[in-house]
Amino acid sequence: MTENTLEELDGSFANQILETVDTLVVILNRHGEIVFFNRACQLLTGFNAGEALGRKVWDFLILDEEIDAVRGAFEALNAENTPSHFINYWKTKDGAPRIIEWSNNTLKDEDGAIAYILGTGVDITESKSKEAALYESKSFLRAIVGASPVAIITSNEKGTILSFSRKAEAIFGFKENEALGQNLTLIIPEPDRLRHDQYLNHYLETGERRIMGKARQVTAVKKSGERFPVVIHVNEFHDGVRVFVGFIEDLSEQKVTERRLEDVKNQLQHIGRIGAMGEIAATIAHELNQPLTAAASLAGAVSLTLRKVEFPQRDDAISHLNETVSEIRRASEIIRQMRDFMRKRKTAKSLHDVNHVVEEAIAIALIGAEAGGVHVTTDLGANVGEASLDRIQIQQVVINLIRNSIDAMQDAEKKHLAISTAKKSRFIEIKISDTGHGLSDDVKKRLFEPFFTTKEEGMGIGLSISKSIIDAHQGEITAIEKESPGVIFSIKLPVGGHDKAAKSQ
Ligand SMILES: Nc1ncnc2c1ncn2[C@@H]1O[C@H](COP(=O)(O)OP(=O)(O)OP(=O)(O)O)[C@@H](O)[C@H]1O
Ligand SMILES: [Mg+2]
Repeated sequence: MTENTLEELDGSFANQILETVDTLVVILNRHGEIVFFNRACQLLTGFNAGEALGRKVWDFLILDEEIDAVRGAFEALNAENTPSHFINYWKTKDGAPRIIEWSNNTLKDEDGAIAYILGTGVDITESKSKEAALYESKSFLRAIVGASPVAIITSNEKGTILSFSRKAEAIFGFKENEALGQNLTLIIPEPDRLRHDQYLNHYLETGERRIMGKARQVTAVKKSGERFPVVIHVNEFHDGVRVFVGFIEDLSEQKVTERRLEDVKNQLQHIGRIGAMGEIAATIAHELNQPLTAAASLAGAVSLTLRKVEFPQRDDAISHLNETVSEIRRASEIIRQMRDFMRKRKTAKSLHDVNHVVEEAIAIALIGAEAGGVHVTTDLGANVGEASLDRIQIQQVVINLIRNSIDAMQDAEKKHLAISTAKKSRFIEIKISDTGHGLSDDVKKRLFEPFFTTKEEGMGIGLSISKSIIDAHQGEITAIEKESPGVIFSIKLPVGGHDKAAKSQ
């Protein structure tokens, strides 16, 4: 308050008027410091003049979140010399917020330069609450109806259209004024058109709810005559008279989306199947290789033994045995090549956001599965980040594990499937936990064996495929027992996907 005080107003008549009016009057100097704070301001805020003068309004009267806006308004006034209107909160001495509508202007000195900023304000806290109450009114309702993404049509008992929402205009092609006063049959195609009146009469006479209160899929007709599928949900209410309200959703777009989703699903299953076949072939190759190697070395050993004994056609026998060994080796070699070929062809690793990959897999697994009654929760860790992986293959693994869990919980009382991801120091862990029947000791030992299954319709390849996929990612897949019923399957993928980090942890 060094320069720019209001000495010239002090004690003046104008000053007395400003003091006595009910309007809030506050005057700031060009630095934003309060130089005048009338009685109305003091009564409202609980700060007396001595407490307010010389301080900046935003230092004690403004809510934190509005400080920048208030300073901005002050600076604009200070620079541009324009009157402004502004609504903001003031907080009183005991912290209560009041809504004030301000009308601001500048006061100039004799040279026409801005000397002060004058704010006159009205406390509109109470009338704002009244506005809030008005929200309940019909105009608010109309606004909601107008904003509804579902078409809303109301009619009276005779089927005469009373209201026709904006979305109804959009999907049926009739303007509101074309539809109002018309019968609902306007949007109902033959043959239902005839039946509609009968339905309505039947309901009015008997109260029997055939369509009332239920969502039904029916065919509707546009102004252009085009028929299209809709879901309609009809209810009634009383507004002096009986009013029917129909909520109508255009299904044509949804049908297209559904069809597209179905295509994607088929494609994925196809890719999954090709992947699975490759994996089965690789697994068989691996499994066959061992007995073939054993057979070759046994035959070799027999051939060596034969050399030590004398009997007729010994040389023939030895030569046949040697051929046997070389045929077995050839078969092994073919199988080895086939396995290498399958392996090479299938891996297409690149960096992927692990959470994203898992989320997609969950969605796919739950589309196809009879997830009836299963409560699914996910806890995808923040900062899990990326790993180098073959997206389809890893999704295959997650889907296999989810399906197994759902199978295992079929008869369980509590069905809870929990899927989580977390980043550990050098690997990313995906966990799938269920509350199913768990693993017996025998099953635990043979879990990852190809063709091991305990299910009537199982092939027993889900986990062996999963294991070979995770092995190809230098990762690790394990089953962890839980204290409560169920199993947790854990997949560890190395961060970056190149080192053996997951194995060593
Ligand atoms: N979450 C689980 N809870 C309990 N047992 C499980 C679980 N996951 C797998 N198993 C057991 O491991 C066996 C092998 O599972 P795997 O996925 O390899 O084959 P499957 O599910 O029987 O058949 P499919 O080839 O169709 O997947 C299952 O039959 C089941 O006994
Ligand atoms: Mg399975």
